[in-house]
Amino acid sequence: SAVRSCQLPLESVADMQITTIEGIGETAIGKKVQERWLTLDVPQCGYCQGGQIMSAVALLTQTPRPMDKDIDAGMAGNICRCGCYTRIRTAIKQLGEAQSP
Ligand code: FES
Repeated sequence: SAVRSCQLPLESVADMQITTIEGIGETAIGKKVQERWLTLDVPQCGYCQGGQIMSAVALLTQTPRPMDKDIDAGMAGNICRCGCYTRIRTAIKQLGEAQSP
């Protein structure tokens, strides 16, 4: 699952395996998400995109073919002041549709 590093004490993750936004592109699903983000020109200013991408990867990992309600729940709390929500949703839906049933 995706967590906010700014709210997580370091000692609470001492024995955990961690993937950050810098490494997410080395995972299969992370690479696909980043590529789809680029294809659809999802980001505007980019400020929120680290969190958006990490949450999208967590969502698609847990729910490979997410419905709207799954996207609402999985992406909740990721605020985009540029209003990129429509492109984010489109990217996630396209990635879900591309997954094998
Ligand atoms: Fe600007 Fe989301 S792309 S805040």
